[in-house]
Amino acid sequence: MTTEPSLPTGLAAWKALETHHERIAKHHLRDLFANDPDRTQRMTFDAVGLTADFSKHLVDSQILTSLVELAHQAGLAERIEAMFEGARINVSEDRSVLHTALRLPRDATLVVDGVDVVAEVHETLDRLASFADEIRSGAWKGATGRPIRNTINIGIGGSDLGPVMAHEALLAYSRRDLHFRFVSNVDTTDLQEAIGDLDPAETLFVVASKTFATLETMTNAAAARDWVVRALGSDSVAKHFVAVSTNEERVKAFGIDPDHMFGFWDWVGGRYSMDSAIGLSIMIAIGPERFREMLAGFHAMDEHFRSTPFEQNLPVLMGMLSVWYRNFFGVQSAAVIPYAQYLNRFPAYLQQLTMESNGKRVTAGGSPVSGDTGPVFWGEPGTNGQHSFFQLLHQGTTAIPVDLIGFAMSPQGERQDLLMANMLAQARALAFGKTAEEVQAEGTDPAIVPHRVMPGNRPTTVIMARVLDPYRLGTLVALYEHSVFTQGTVWGIDSFDQWGVELGKTLAVQIAPMLKGEQEPAFDTSTNSLIERYLALQKETS
Ligand code: F6P
Repeated sequence: MTTEPSLPTGLAAWKALETHHERIAKHHLRDLFANDPDRTQRMTFDAVGLTADFSKHLVDSQILTSLVELAHQAGLAERIEAMFEGARINVSEDRSVLHTALRLPRDATLVVDGVDVVAEVHETLDRLASFADEIRSGAWKGATGRPIRNTINIGIGGSDLGPVMAHEALLAYSRRDLHFRFVSNVDTTDLQEAIGDLDPAETLFVVASKTFATLETMTNAAAARDWVVRALGSDSVAKHFVAVSTNEERVKAFGIDPDHMFGFWDWVGGRYSMDSAIGLSIMIAIGPERFREMLAGFHAMDEHFRSTPFEQNLPVLMGMLSVWYRNFFGVQSAAVIPYAQYLNRFPAYLQQLTMESNGKRVTAGGSPVSGDTGPVFWGEPGTNGQHSFFQLLHQGTTAIPVDLIGFAMSPQGERQDLLMANMLAQARALAFGKTAEEVQAEGTDPAIVPHRVMPGNRPTTVIMARVLDPYRLGTLVALYEHSVFTQGTVWGIDSFDQWGVELGKTLAVQIAPMLKGEQEPAFDTSTNSLIERYLALQKETS
């Protein structure tokens, strides 16, 4: 019996792309540019305040057309509608996928399973806004009557990465007299360092966890509660802890009053939740109005994704280019380099979004995938990355597609000439490199020439916007969300579950008592020996 391949390799567009790949592989970006002077004009797209230049990719117009056809033939248009309408496209968890509903305007309507989702979203947003305003105005008093000056978000994964990324991204719009910290790691030093110099009487903990069951978060929240209770007494918890969760029972069991709980819904995946109540710390930092601007940015990109023909649709083109490199060139990794120090945590945020979504080995229907799915995703801000791993990007043996993100103005209102000069220089050097002849012509010692040759032909997308602000941040995040969705659709996988993280969690719970010496190690020889080594190391004197 033969099984059908899960990747849509039988589609006409896929077959056309195989032929295109053979053809384009013989070309260098230098020829593509030399033979097609209009390509940049044709391959640069503007939407919702972002400009994306795709012309430094290993494509021509025919290839872009075939990629768009592949998206159509893979049923992307139908899948987009299904997602936006609330169909249960997260099949392995039997859930709708409605992060797009989190940013629908108040006057929109979306009824799912008989519930007006938009009304619920805005009711929660209004509650969040009044709470954020109370903290920002000082109306909310801690147990001793002092206003809150420090907000500590305790969460991990999607309950941390979005808030911490957006907080840093939007620092220029934040209240500087309020302090924000983010505790995620079960390593006790994370919490200790966060609270070490703070006064509990002025500190609010936002315990952010969709499930309210995550080991790291619950451990840190319990330790934080002990710290507050030791200093201020057990009645103080109500004034110093709020929860963001979908699980009211567990929130109550932890000792947080449901009145101080902000909910969201099982149709919001953790890595798609920074624009839900999970963003409370962001809202306290930048204020409800700016938070709503961010939501408007998300929504603008949602509308663009839903209604723009694929030929000019930024997330579709980005996603299909990823498929192109992954499945036709066999590239294993992709990088993002934001030329904005405020986007320091954007690569980490995107790592969860991309790899937890598309790092899958079975189809949505449960059969093994017949080819590669999500690539390794990584990055660092420019210009710092230039002085570390860019060597490999330029001269290593693996070509890695790179997204370069830059802004014309800094949020402080200054021009960014030097920063942007670096971004544009890197994009040009990666694409066009430097030939042996060019190196020789500079009078280089012939023995050194091969070392200085820059092969070029390394693809980049340059994404530019005027300034990093809440609205543009929303558009950028939604751009990547929908690009991930586009890729997952072609690969036929469930981009919204994350079963792969479960086994490690279960094993950690089993191993913990063995590390305390309460149980004998009972695993494989390697794990048993490492447990014993750990116990022995603790007995060493220094
Ligand atoms: O372990 C992975 C994960 O489930 C992520 O998907 C999620 O963002 C994170 O843990 C945190 O989960 P929670 O918000 O339920 O604490």
